[in-house]
Amino acid sequence: MTEIRRARPEDIPTIAAFTERTFDWGDYVADLLPGWLDASDGAVFVAVDDHDVPIAMARGTLLSPTEAWFHAARVHPDHRGKGIAGELALVLTGWASERGADVGRLLIEDWNEASHRQVAKTGMRPVARFHRAERAVGEASVRPEGNGGRRVARPVRTRLARSAEAPAAFASWSVGPLARRARNLFARGWSFRRLRDHDLVGAAKEETFWEIGSGWAIVRPSGASVEVGWVETRPDEAFGFLWGLVDLATETGREELVVWLPDERWLTRAAQQVGFETRGMQVYTIEL
Ligand SMILES: CC(C)(COP(=O)(O)OP(=O)(O)OC[C@H]1O[C@@H](n2cnc3c(N)ncnc32)[C@H](O)[C@@H]1OP(=O)(O)O)[C@@H](O)C(=O)NCCC(=O)NCCS
Repeated sequence: MTEIRRARPEDIPTIAAFTERTFDWGDYVADLLPGWLDASDGAVFVAVDDHDVPIAMARGTLLSPTEAWFHAARVHPDHRGKGIAGELALVLTGWASERGADVGRLLIEDWNEASHRQVAKTGMRPVARFHRAERAVGEASVRPEGNGGRRVARPVRTRLARSAEAPAAFASWSVGPLARRARNLFARGWSFRRLRDHDLVGAAKEETFWEIGSGWAIVRPSGASVEVGWVETRPDEAFGFLWGLVDLATETGREELVVWLPDERWLTRAAQQVGFETRGMQVYTIEL
């Protein structure tokens, strides 16, 4: 058994050093760690060696009173393959359960074989697949017509939706194919939780709830990007709907549009036709 304790500010340099080259592009952990240690809605745990030096970390947060999210699992390259991430996961699930969560989830990209193997050992099960669809928009876009092809969809009307429309949008989604595929989850940033009708009311108040043709979406500016974490559309309208999102993102003057798509073939195919690059990911879940 490896010793596991809460992370402290003095651990930051050690963690920053062993996460410097986690991925080809580096890692975001060192930048975000100071804020995570100050935040009250989450906890960072570290596994330490015999000298109390961190050799692994992972973080949990509560996305709602009953839903936990686990992420940022990082094991020092010299200590991988020893089951340490699994030991951290046990501590995190205990932490979340003590705080009232009855479910915990996490996200793994398709390419990350080590992570898929690791979480399978902890009793988590795959619950929903999503595709992260990314496309440059506005001046950053070198191919405004998508895939070099012709834009055949007529522009759809996009307008801010009102809270009064939330029940209709929620009902449409709940009985349609997308909620089923998404297992009622939606994205915010890189995390997922269950959508409730009051989330759409909240989005209307924040002016992020949009009517796109006869569908709806939650559209949030995020840095240089526009992020769409929830979509409700139908197969015969998906192409025009996605163009509507491109138009909307272009109007904001941002450079990139990111749309989280539930794993429906007609939807990912429409996204590719509109010029999005898509990457598959799996949400895993565990009952606490
Ligand atoms: C994913 C990660 C957290 C797993 O942690 P871990 O403590 O090594 O997990 P495990 O010991 O259970 O090993 C999991 C799998 O890693 C692979 N693995 C084993 N030894 C390894 C090593 N020395 N180096 C790299 N991967 C190794 C194996 O596929 C193993 O599965 P198996 O036991 O069924 O053969 C760790 O590899 C890591 O930090 N990766 C980089 C960061 C990352 O991808 N985080 C997750 C983002 S979602």
